Amino acid sequence: MQILQGKKILLGISGGIAAYKTPELVRRLKDQGADVRVVMTEGAKAFITPLTLQAVSANAVSDSLLDTQAELAMGHIELAKWADFILIAPATADLIAKIAAGMANDLLTTLCLATAAPIAIAPAMNQQMWHNLATQNNMKTLTSWQYSIFGPGAGEQACGDVGLGRMLEVHELVTLTCQAMESMNNDTSKAKPLAGQKWLITAGPTREAIDPVRYISNHSSGKMGFAIANAAQQLGADVTIISGPVSIATPPHCHKIAVTSAMEMHQHALDHAATSDVFVACAAVADYRIDHIADEKIKKSHDTMQLNLIKNPDIVADVAAMKNKPFTVGFAAETQDVEHYARDKLARKNLDMIAANNVAAQGQGFNSDDNALTVLTASDEKVLPLMSKSELAKKLVQHIQQTLQKSQ
Ligand code: PMT
Repeated sequence: MQILQGKKILLGISGGIAAYKTPELVRRLKDQGADVRVVMTEGAKAFITPLTLQAVSANAVSDSLLDTQAELAMGHIELAKWADFILIAPATADLIAKIAAGMANDLLTTLCLATAAPIAIAPAMNQQMWHNLATQNNMKTLTSWQYSIFGPGAGEQACGDVGLGRMLEVHELVTLTCQAMESMNNDTSKAKPLAGQKWLITAGPTREAIDPVRYISNHSSGKMGFAIANAAQQLGADVTIISGPVSIATPPHCHKIAVTSAMEMHQHALDHAATSDVFVACAAVADYRIDHIADEKIKKSHDTMQLNLIKNPDIVADVAAMKNKPFTVGFAAETQDVEHYARDKLARKNLDMIAANNVAAQGQGFNSDDNALTVLTASDEKVLPLMSKSELAKKLVQHIQQTLQKSQ
């Protein structure tokens, strides 16, 4: 099914180098069934031509507030009313500042004031500009106004710097737009059975440092944990994700705590678990960490070397051992005797539920888009066959909710 079928998306483009990706963004949004209209700032036109965006969107591109002809065709107020959703990508530091100041001195900023549609922005700027207090304060303002913030991502930047500030990739922006629209549909058409509940979810891998440049980790992408977070949020839960290093976007309206090591994840999980109703431990936590992290890069001076490892605390077991523990769901990533080992973890870690995940089977498990689970409690077993992680997450969240209800 095309998630954006019949949806009217207004894409606002401001003047950053990432604007060159927007024709592709328009095409992928249209692939999902959206009708896309483009509004460009003057700066955007220095990076990409209106003609290109008109060709890919099959709609006239708007770029001026004071153009009499444009106002005759579709005036700025009509445009603001037309949109079901406004996505601004890339959103420069300058544009973000203007919106946060409530300015309306060009078409795009005026539309932001004049629309009742939800607005998402995908920041794109130099990493130093992103970290600047002015930008961060402007972002806080927009977040407090319920703007959705898509990104930014980290990595190498056009200016040669490395860090946070890259516009998210086109496929990530499309996924987040679909998730935001789905959550809007749910807002108006579906009940929110998880309203009032706090869900705490661990996701992604952990990294255990060996020296300043090396670490031990695993192949977890965070996709499964983030899909669970999104599914729970869409059903009304207040969701916090504690995530190891991942390169996927945080689902809309979920709060993410970024961590690196198992010890950090443990600390944050215990800090938040007591006030959570449900804890889902989907992260692939390193079982061991390096006994002593070298201060300097270890030299290649021997043919063999040994690393001394010590056991990390078991996060899910420690949460399950709390006096007022949340309903605690673990995962069991296994390559053999999957159900047997999962049942052992369910009992040994005192969990309420465990999702047994065969990570040796083709096309599922770590870093895949699909997965299959066998969900076990002490008295019940439910098989969730191979499907997309987002569909699987919805079914798992429903199952957790039903089991939790029965247990109360
Ligand atoms: O992130 P993806 O690429 O989408 O992949 C998803 C996944 C395969 C990582 C996910 O579906 C999954 O199976 N997660 C559990 C991974 C794991 O570490 O399993 P485990 O069997 O080693 O651990 C058992 C449980 O204990 C898990 O809930 C784990 O989060 C938890 N644990 C483990 C060690 C530790 N020190 N603390 C923990 O809380």
